[in-house]
Amino acid sequence: MEFFLDENGCLNSKNENLKNFLIHPLWLRERLNSENYLDQHNYQRLYEPSLLDPNIKFSKYKVEDNLLKIEFTDNSNGVFSIDSLIQELNSKDIIPKKTPWKNQFKELPIYDFKSLYEDKYISELLNDFQELGFVIVKNTSAEEGTVIKFAEMFGPVRTTNFGKHFDVLSKPKANDLAYTSLGIKAHTDNPYRKPMPGIQILHCIANEAKGGDSSLVDGYAVAEYLKKEEPEMYEVLTTTDVLFKFVDKDIILENYGKLIELDDSGNYLQSRFSGRLDYVPYLEPKKLESFYAARKKLYYLYESEEFELNFRLESGMLMMFDNIRVLHGRTEYDVNTGFRHLQGCYIDHDSTEGKLRRLKSNL
Ligand code: OGA
Ligand code: ZN
Repeated sequence: MEFFLDENGCLNSKNENLKNFLIHPLWLRERLNSENYLDQHNYQRLYEPSLLDPNIKFSKYKVEDNLLKIEFTDNSNGVFSIDSLIQELNSKDIIPKKTPWKNQFKELPIYDFKSLYEDKYISELLNDFQELGFVIVKNTSAEEGTVIKFAEMFGPVRTTNFGKHFDVLSKPKANDLAYTSLGIKAHTDNPYRKPMPGIQILHCIANEAKGGDSSLVDGYAVAEYLKKEEPEMYEVLTTTDVLFKFVDKDIILENYGKLIELDDSGNYLQSRFSGRLDYVPYLEPKKLESFYAARKKLYYLYESEEFELNFRLESGMLMMFDNIRVLHGRTEYDVNTGFRHLQGCYIDHDSTEGKLRRLKSNL
């Protein structure tokens, strides 16, 4: 592969993956990675890059065995893997992108806990999790505390005012409808927190009652559907801030957010939905009517056969889902017909994403 310098002293190549990039000398200088520049145990920089000479230039360069060997005018030098440069410049992340899904699985992403000591298997699970926003795990155990043990395989648990874990049981005077036997429609948990819990794990200890089936819906797939089929409603849902609120005797939690939130480039970022907890702020009547119509449409899509996946968690099974993308729910159950007990907890996206990056870099 050949490189050449352009009139401003930047490196360029005709290679398909590099031709769109003019590599500035300072940009590459900051990436020197030998022991003079980076601590070899933690890969952190040993000098202050802001103080490098802004007029630094390449003094020599050559390519050997797919390596770019460089000298700079401040007498520093280094070797770069061309493949790594290509990867970085083309933003090729090893974390897979989201794949929107409907209720059309030929095979559900169900993993066997008994094999979850193998890195390759954990990596497959995390890969599915990134793509689909959920996985189901069977054969854990029916013991209390399993949810925390499972969560800590990936990272630290996020403790909230519900505790390190929460018990999903029917209780008298419950401070959340989840802790009754009522059915709960598709929702994201805790949209009133700053930030919302990233990932939720729900582990089933017992599910012997009649009812109490689970559901999951891909908020991303529904958002993509609305964008295409109902652009006006999509506009309303992606621009109206809604207040979410939790109140009990100890605390009042509040946060605002859109039911579908996009990033600055208009790409899907997250969903929020909880009909139990949302308050639309004051809007002029016409705008309010548009919002209510759009929210109703969203509600029906979330519970539609096309989008909503239904299944049953049996004792010893758990589901892990991306709480800002995949909505979950359960059907009503009858406490007189048997015992039902789930335990849940939250972890951060950093845990699953970071673990997958580590595993993929090792494998
Ligand atoms: C919850 C919840 C679902 C269930 O606790 O947040 O949604 O199956 N529970 O009980
Ligand atoms: Zn919930």
